[in-house]
Amino acid sequence: NTHIEKIPNQPKHVGIIMDGNGRWAKLRGKRRIFGHEAGVIKARELVETSVKIELEALTLYAFSSENWSRPKKEVSGLMSLFERTIEKYTSLLIDNNVRFKTAGDPSMLPKILKRKLEQMESITSENTGLKLTLAIAYGGQQDIINGIKLLIDDHNSQVIDINQMTVESFEDYLSFKDLPELDLIIRTSGETRLSNFMLWQSAYAELYFTKTLWPDFKITSLNKALHNYSERLRKLGK
Ligand code: IPE
Ligand code: IPE
Ligand code: MG
Repeated sequence: NTHIEKIPNQPKHVGIIMDGNGRWAKLRGKRRIFGHEAGVIKARELVETSVKIELEALTLYAFSSENWSRPKKEVSGLMSLFERTIEKYTSLLIDNNVRFKTAGDPSMLPKILKRKLEQMESITSENTGLKLTLAIAYGGQQDIINGIKLLIDDHNSQVIDINQMTVESFEDYLSFKDLPELDLIIRTSGETRLSNFMLWQSAYAELYFTKTLWPDFKITSLNKALHNYSERLRKLGK
């Protein structure tokens, strides 16, 4: 059953730690990249569903700063998979009015991938539907340090007064600054950690963990997570 519809108090911004591709492949006696390929198909499905239920923002954790330390072969396999995926899904994003952005440090990404990501951002920049962000070569700690560097630049050029800094104004220096507040983080595969995902933005996010491996994550799994979220009482310290 793939039926899903918008619910009254569904989250505005969902972040997903798409974990478990390697284990999924291993269970089938296949190479890890086979799991990553299956994972991409799920990501596509999720984007389409998010459009359908009029989610405002979806952020997908595709590759962490720490993932650079995986075996070279897996890293290059992932990079070429990202390249092929961007190519393949450009029209899907355009047709669905999706605005695409990336978060992360692109300096170590292959040049072609970097260029394709930039192209996708600019082609979709005027779109008004789902705000899709791909966290790629992204780390929450690195993003905060990068923000501090930009802040110091602005301070030195007297654009800002550091004594006037607030939580809201600091967010201007971080990734995801133009997105609604992060409401819900979903992590698949049974690990119950953030692994450097949206550390600043997760301050008041609801966390949802499921043992389902990412390539097995279905529309009904998302439905379950959204309903679970909608029944929670968010006290926000009050
Ligand atoms: C998540 O799946 C995808 C990436 C980190 C790129 P994993 O590759 O971490 O899969 P497991 O955790 O080893 O099963
Ligand atoms: C987090 O998963 C990163 C992504 C899903 C892209 P990892 O598999 O890299 O995280 P750890 O190593 O289990 O913490
Ligand atoms: Mg993992």
